[in-house]
Amino acid sequence: MKTTIVVSRPAEVECEALVAVVLDYSDGAPTDKDKKPQLKVATTDKAVQDIAADLLTSGEVAGKLFETNLLHKPAGLKAKRLLLVSGGGAKRFSSYDLRRIAGTAVRALKSRGIRSFAFATPDGVAAEEAVRAIVEGAHVGNFDPDYYRSDRKDQKIDAITVVTSGDKATLEKAANEAQVIGESQNFTRDLVNEPSNRMTPTILADRAKKMCAEVGLKCEVYGADKIKEMKMGAFWSVAQGSDEPPALIVMTYEPAGAPAKPVLGLVGKGITFDTGGISIKPADGMEKMKYDMAGGATMIGAMRAIALLKPKVKVIGIVCATENMPSGKAQKPGDVQIAMSGKSIEIINTDAEGRLVLADGLYYARQLGCTHLVDAATLTGAVVVALGYTNAGIFANDDNMYERFRGANAKAGEKMWRMPLDDEYKEQIRSSIADIVNSGGRWGGAVTAAMFLKEFAEDTPWIHLDIAGTAWMEDQKPWIAKGPSGIALRSLVEFVKGFAS
Ligand code: BES
Ligand code: MN
Ligand code: ZN
Repeated sequence: MKTTIVVSRPAEVECEALVAVVLDYSDGAPTDKDKKPQLKVATTDKAVQDIAADLLTSGEVAGKLFETNLLHKPAGLKAKRLLLVSGGGAKRFSSYDLRRIAGTAVRALKSRGIRSFAFATPDGVAAEEAVRAIVEGAHVGNFDPDYYRSDRKDQKIDAITVVTSGDKATLEKAANEAQVIGESQNFTRDLVNEPSNRMTPTILADRAKKMCAEVGLKCEVYGADKIKEMKMGAFWSVAQGSDEPPALIVMTYEPAGAPAKPVLGLVGKGITFDTGGISIKPADGMEKMKYDMAGGATMIGAMRAIALLKPKVKVIGIVCATENMPSGKAQKPGDVQIAMSGKSIEIINTDAEGRLVLADGLYYARQLGCTHLVDAATLTGAVVVALGYTNAGIFANDDNMYERFRGANAKAGEKMWRMPLDDEYKEQIRSSIADIVNSGGRWGGAVTAAMFLKEFAEDTPWIHLDIAGTAWMEDQKPWIAKGPSGIALRSLVEFVKGFAS
């Protein structure tokens, strides 16, 4: 999608459609019975205000978040159409809503066959923040995953113009960065969307290599021999059961002029299909386990964005890619495995495989010199029980690291919630014959999984993101299609940028 910044009055912009945000300026609480909405377009452009006024005071528009109304041939505007998208109450309106409104506008317009439009930045959000939110949100909305449908319409918005005020050069820079991030998020979503027969560890590694070559990153891919040679016994214990060769993907970003430290390590779970292994999953819903490589795909997409945005900080991206299969070669419950770090692991449940591959991925990142670690993984069903489909779980072994990540996360407009990692939970992963077990049982399952990873991050500042409930949209929303969400990429890129300043 081509993005352009225009500093102008919205009424003066010639376009297929002008999108403007409607807000409710009434004061009463949303629960007030006789509260009447006071709907106005959030713009100082009188011409846009006027053309919308009759509709907005007619009582036909409720002003609910994501409500859309389309006017043709709006008098006084150079646009062919005016699309009004409601943003709810003016008081609580933020760039978080604006991002989703931009996605809503894209989806409303592209389904009508429109290919380009202009978006007027609303009052109430600073121009630069608004530009980022609109461009990122528009990219999110522009993605549809129906590649394999013969009747795929492949409707897309080709160009967006953001109509705003302020310093054009600054806003253009913001728009370009947002475009890189939006495209990278969709790159990740494309990888996650592919079914496991079309996204094996080898294919995932090939896609990573191709991307790295395009953006100038170093990329190394190691196979079974090297994984065994490096004594990655936890990673290999999962990979050994599959006929598909595993891949350890290592992407390195070392910009000229970056200090020797910090070195940020981004480690992703890349299970291209999770059957559960010998502790096999029920058939019902198993098809969804093609997205168990979402954490890995997120790191590949994040490395793409980082390579293009060029922050002055070293970053290493590591993806541990394998299938988790039952077979005559598969590991069995009760087996004891020795991780690369030397820790012994008693396998209680072969379906707790993500933590096994990440254990070696995290340890390896530290061996490569990473001073700070972030991992992302569709790690547990338990995080879905805890936080539902709304928030991803954040776990941190270091409060400074958490605060940094939290700041980046808020800017990126992604929902995440911190979960605990108290020492008490460690009892649940004690083993009687090895150092730890790979499953802490039913209660607090997302926490005990994170406690397991913590054993391998040790004293390196580390964040773990459990995206099991958020990497896949169960239903479509006005602003996003059903399917892969690309969650965490924007927060990760923002987090990395934070180390460069
Ligand atoms: N990939 C799953 C977690 C998952 C569940 C991802 C739902 C996306 C949606 C993970 O490998 C897994 O199977 N975890 C087990 C762990 C248990 C055996 C300790 C789980 O959550 O049930
Ligand atoms: Mn599993
Ligand atoms: Zn899994």
